[in-house]
Amino acid sequence: MCGIFAYIGEGRDATKAVFNGLKRLDYRGYDSWGISIVEKGEIKTQKYIGEINRKLLTLGRSRSAIGHTRWATNGTVTQINAHPHTSSDKSYVLAHNGIVENFTKLKSFLSKKGYKFISDTDTEVILRLIEYEYRNEKDFIISVQNAFNKLDGRNTIIILKKEGEVIAVRNGSPLVVGISEKNNDVYFSSDTLSFSQYVDKTITLENGQMAICNDKLTIINTKDNNEVTVNYDVNTIKGQEYSKDGFRHFMIKEIHEEPQIIEKVMLQSKKNILKLANKIKNSTTVYCIGSGTAGAAAFQSAYYLRTFGGINAIALIGAEAKDYFHLFKKSDLIIALSQSGETADTLEVIEFAKKVGVCIASYVNMPGSLMTKISDYKFMANAGPEICVMSTKVFVSQIVWGYLLSKVVQGKFYDGLSNLRKTKTAVSKLLKDKILDKKLDKIATKLSYEKDLFLLAKGQNLQIIREGMIKLVEGGYIHAHAIPAGDLKHYAITLMEPGKYLISVISDDENKTDTMNAINEVKARGASVIGISVFPDKIYDEYIQVANLGETSAILNIIPLQLLAYKIAVLKGNNVDKPRNIAKSVTVK
Ligand code: G6P
Repeated sequence: MCGIFAYIGEGRDATKAVFNGLKRLDYRGYDSWGISIVEKGEIKTQKYIGEINRKLLTLGRSRSAIGHTRWATNGTVTQINAHPHTSSDKSYVLAHNGIVENFTKLKSFLSKKGYKFISDTDTEVILRLIEYEYRNEKDFIISVQNAFNKLDGRNTIIILKKEGEVIAVRNGSPLVVGISEKNNDVYFSSDTLSFSQYVDKTITLENGQMAICNDKLTIINTKDNNEVTVNYDVNTIKGQEYSKDGFRHFMIKEIHEEPQIIEKVMLQSKKNILKLANKIKNSTTVYCIGSGTAGAAAFQSAYYLRTFGGINAIALIGAEAKDYFHLFKKSDLIIALSQSGETADTLEVIEFAKKVGVCIASYVNMPGSLMTKISDYKFMANAGPEICVMSTKVFVSQIVWGYLLSKVVQGKFYDGLSNLRKTKTAVSKLLKDKILDKKLDKIATKLSYEKDLFLLAKGQNLQIIREGMIKLVEGGYIHAHAIPAGDLKHYAITLMEPGKYLISVISDDENKTDTMNAINEVKARGASVIGISVFPDKIYDEYIQVANLGETSAILNIIPLQLLAYKIAVLKGNNVDKPRNIAKSVTVK
């Protein structure tokens, strides 16, 4: 949700460093982009609509520069609304990630004071507010702090002054600093991965902290202006690279990584999982939370904790958790699942819960996130960079971890591991199955013409069809609807008619009969059924065979749905790795 990047140093050309950084942040928004540099004491800016493109960048070399890639919130996608925005006296530029929630109020206050606005963005309000503060204060740093402290919402800003100085302030939206000691270079970015290959040490700025960098880096608290003793983290992901490894898209590459991802979860420290399992057993209520795909993983993890651990586990979607806030107790535990560890909707629940003394555990993929920082029990997925905006391998990692955790709670860790070993083999086999691949091509071709698709399942597969629905909506731009098998007869059956397609996921478990009954009801109304199941049945118009894995069947069953969504997205000529209108990391509410 908007990416910000800055570089200052001697080792590289800042213009190129920021350009390359932005390329790595474009998963955060790809509506427009812009770069500002300092050339002979003057700030030069270039801003464009659309994808980041090297050919459009004609700025010269610089020692310091900032850049921004935008996911539009306030203000449509125009060049004027693109960041960085320039101060009235052209002495500095500012880029922003977040939403100024009180921007209408601030804008009207500033307008009354005579300030003029050229864009429709809330970002420009920050700029004018700094100018307003500076009129009285005359100290730039204090003016930035004063302005920043008047903003409501989750906001992070980055400023480049014509003297070459870079100033960054964080509240809510992410900001990491990277340092290369050899070259005396400093990087600022929305994530660690965007500069990971160049730095030895990183600092995750905390909310309310400001970093000022010219010849040296200083970090201060915006509330009292006191310098902060910095805690550096060693950069542990230096070698991680972005490459499609010969695949056509990141999405399909990431799906093919899933067997290794399962293996990685199996290698998690038993001691750490055991500690969390003990905490789970001693908690009154365990809330599993996440947003989007991570929300589906949270529901699946809660299902596993209830089913195998006998735990009172409730799943919540980040943005819809507020009505539970008054129920949170010190004896509760929250388990947050997140690829980025920066999703505002999820973070907000954790931040509230922490204040009332709820214990927090998290399972995050991206290193250096705020979610990890504020968690009492920290787990890393170590799934490597997930570049496709649609999450696939991290979803698998999350549900595999949720399953293993529930088996530890149940006291059956080694059974869990043995089941996962079989699951990994089955996932590998399925991904290499050429006949299945051809069949999926055929089904994808049929489904790609559809406006509406239905999915149906029960029990362990219910969240799997919800996640399948998310993938079809995100990647295929198809309206999809996930129906709990037992609820079909209560409403969705009205939509079943000839020409409609329903994908059902059925395992050989206690829910098989109920699910098959629902499928019969669908067929009786003339709709076509695609069955993803361990057993063939003449009722299916198309049949996708999956191995019988007992209690881990759901983990395997998501793969054909991910592949189908991928194939449909490709067939429709959609932007597979960057579907329209969404962003990978949503750091605003
Ligand atoms: C966005 C993405 C989704 C993702 C969700 C949660 O909405 O488009 O694909 O599942 O954020 O992200 P997280 O980083 O918390 O897993």
